[in-house]
Amino acid sequence: MTIAAAEAPPPRDCLLCPRLVAFREAQRAANPEWFNGPVPPFGDSRAELLIVGLAPGLRGANRTGRPFTGDYAGGLLYATLGKFGFAEGEYGAHPEDGLELRRVRITNAVRCVPPQNRPEPSEVANCARFLATEIGAMPRLRAILALGAIAHQAVIATLGLRRALFPFEHGRIHVLPGGLTLADSYHCSRLNTNTGKLSPQMFETIFSELSGHLSQASNQYAQT
Ligand code: URA
Repeated sequence: MTIAAAEAPPPRDCLLCPRLVAFREAQRAANPEWFNGPVPPFGDSRAELLIVGLAPGLRGANRTGRPFTGDYAGGLLYATLGKFGFAEGEYGAHPEDGLELRRVRITNAVRCVPPQNRPEPSEVANCARFLATEIGAMPRLRAILALGAIAHQAVIATLGLRRALFPFEHGRIHVLPGGLTLADSYHCSRLNTNTGKLSPQMFETIFSELSGHLSQASNQYAQT
């Protein structure tokens, strides 16, 4: 497993993806009070679990500046994190709500908001350098949860692994070379929950398994 050399976080005016730059500029003009920039991760870099989403939602993270904050997907994600002890405090859908993450950090495969919530493959590839830095900067990282197939593939590519060996499958837990765990879930988007592809119960099952997995790993470390 190889992780690319560390890169600085993207500047506010990152120019790597022309389509996303144009969209960002249009949003800055239309909604100057919004964040409208590459959204930084949320949570401590000493966390054991990294959650990788797709990209900021237009009126969610792109508006508020915190991943999954202010849109439907965030409501479900933070409620579930709270149930499993990964978050403390009240999620108020804004970055000053005082919510604190426990043992988990959250980022996105693509840091800038894409039109129609759909990043292009070249944009995922451009942003991989920042995901690589993120992963490389988490000394206690044990597990990654990919929300959706694009996030899963971004993680696999970032780690220099072969996609065919690690296919995306909801509920699957992959053990990666080097011992890192990669868990897959359908994205907690409104579309997926409205269509019944992902129920809150199914989402909770993933966190229940991850929680068990992380405690097992902690016990093993404590015994060595
Ligand atoms: N908000 C994010 O930050 N990421 C997603 O993938 C969806 C909503």
